[in-house]
Formats: sequence, C-alpha cells, structure tokens
Amino acid sequence: MPDTTTAPTGSPRPPSILVTGATGNLGREVVDRLHAHGARVRCLARGQAGPRPGVEWAVGDLTDPAAVRAALVGIDAVFLIWPLLDAAPAHGLIAELVAAAPRVVYLSSTAIADEAARQSDPIVQVHADMEALLRDAGLRPTVLRSDTLASNARGWASQLKAGDVISGPDVARTAVVDERDVADAVVAALLAHPDRLDREPYVLTGPEVLSRAGQVVLLGTALGRRLRFQAVTAELARSRMLADGRSERLVEALIAASLRRPESHRTTDHVERLTGRPAGTFARWAIDHAAEFS
Ligand SMILES: NC(=O)c1ccc[n+]([C@@H]2O[C@H](COP(=O)([O-])OP(=O)(O)OC[C@H]3O[C@@H](n4cnc5c(N)ncnc54)[C@H](OP(=O)(O)O)[C@@H]3O)[C@@H](O)[C@H]2O)c1
Repeated sequence: MPDTTTAPTGSPRPPSILVTGATGNLGREVVDRLHAHGARVRCLARGQAGPRPGVEWAVGDLTDPAAVRAALVGIDAVFLIWPLLDAAPAHGLIAELVAAAPRVVYLSSTAIADEAARQSDPIVQVHADMEALLRDAGLRPTVLRSDTLASNARGWASQLKAGDVISGPDVARTAVVDERDVADAVVAALLAHPDRLDREPYVLTGPEVLSRAGQVVLLGTALGRRLRFQAVTAELARSRMLADGRSERLVEALIAASLRRPESHRTTDHVERLTGRPAGTFARWAIDHAAEFS
C-alpha cells in the first residue's frame, strides 16, 4: 500500500510526517516504522526522546496553536492522537490543521457507539467529539478506531514486582490489540494513496476478546508465574489512583470507563486489510515483552 508524495518540483520525495504522542507507547512504534520506511519524521510531544538520526523533534503542547503551527511547516501527513479528557481545547489545533491542510490519520476508540447521542464514558466521548470536529472542519480524516492496547499492561509492572496478584477495577472484556499492529496499520494508512483508503472508520482489534483476568493469566504463562487478577471496588480503586497522584478528573474518567463501558465483543480483520497480515495475540505480546516484567 505504500505510496510516495510528489514534491512541487515534480520529483518523487519521501513524505514528511508529523507524529503526535511520539514519546508514548504507540507513538514510539509509529516513529520507528516510518523511519524504517524512509519517511521524513517530525515528532511532537511535550517531552523529548533521545536524539536519533533522521528524526526531528518539535517539543510542544497539542493545545498550543503556535507550537502546532510550527510543527506543521512542510508536513504532508499527520498521525494525530488526542490524549486529553476534553475536545474543547482542540479548536486551535483543528484551525492549524485546516490552514496547513495535511492528510490526517486520527487514532480513535472502538468503544464509540455511532448511534448513541452520548458515549458510555468521558474517554470515549472525547474520541467521538474529536472525530466530529475533524470531519466538520472538512479535513476528511482517516479514522482508525483502536481497541484496548496491549501496552496498557505495562501499568501492571510495579505490582508484579511485589507479588503474583494484579488488583484493579474490573472492566468489560475487550479485543485487546497489539500496539505494534496498530502502529503498522497507522503507517499503512499514512503512506497509502488516499483513494485506496476507506472513508468509514477502520476498527482495529486483536484476534480474541479477553477479560482482564484472562490477560493476567496469559501474562503469567509468558513469565512462568501463576498470576491472578483481583477486582477491587470503585471506591478502593479511586482512593488508590488518587494516592498515586493522578488528577481527580482522570480518576473519575477511568472509574466511569470501568463501570459503564460495555464489552467490545467484536473482532475484525481490519489490521490485515491495512497491513496485509493478521493481528497478533496478547499471548504473543506477553512473550515478546516478558523481560519488562522481571
Ligand atoms: N491505550 C489504549 O488502550 C487506547 C485505546 C484507543 C485509543 N487510544 C488513544 O491512543 C493514544 C496513545 O496511546 P498510548 O498508550 O501511546 O499513550 P501514552 O503512552 O500515554 O502516550 C501519550 C503521548 O501523548 C503525549 N501527550 C500527552 N499530553 C500531551 C499534550 N497536551 N500535548 C502534546 N503531547 C501530549 C505524551 O507525551 P508528553 O507527556 O511528553 O507530552 C505521549 O507521547 C491515547 O492518548 C488515546 O487517545 C488508546
């Protein structure tokens, strides 16, 4: 599916791509792959990863229109995430995107219910609002809706150092997807000719629907340990997350997701449609990342 962009001189040149969230679990994978494909990569985040040849950094906040404007100079396509809990601060960013007119690939959520007036919880609502803002601004985004990223399991690492029980608020089962598959799909969408992409959102899932308890067992198998998940009440989860220093707003959004988000029982072949190969299992992710939990 990869394509090249034609420079104003008429000579083909590698596309210039802005990666937002470039220091994050997913963004790092996207940057590596774009770089390997020979794209010119500019990264946007508030922090900065270590320097690496061929990758440029634009340190700034997504809510700062001047930082976004500077980051967009000379850019053909943007991989956009929106890690905030509210879409209202995105108006400046959207205006800058409209002015610079790059192609936009937006990473959204499989939990969006298209028929619903309001979404199940604030995190899903913000993705629905962002999709609408991008569409209504005429940006014609390619939307990739992702299920739960396997890399969220990294959040269990500190508990696993202390013992064999992972405790937290239970959440409905989801078709956990390997962030490396999502990154491959993102890169395929960024490098494809737009005519070859669907106008409807892609729905990126892993191959099986898993409970958190099921994920913990699979992680234990990869680590050679008998791990188990222990669900805690919303009250206990809330007080623990607040004690960890998370903001009250984020904690309430996470609690709402655990209480109200319905099971995402759907698996799709959309990773394969974009990348040419099927999505990997969480068991595979756990084996490949076992060293991070020792
Ligand atoms: N995790 C999931 O299960 C899931 C499922 C569906 C969709 N998503 C979407 O995928 C996104 C990426 O997931 P992830 O797991 O890679 O997240 P992550 O590891 O938490 O990374 C978030 C990235 O966003 C950057 N960031 C945060 N606030 C920012 C701001 N105000 N301005 C500029 N950059 C900012 C962070 O860098 P700095 O802190 O240095 O700025 C970091 O690079 C999520 O934000 C979410 O919207 C996630």
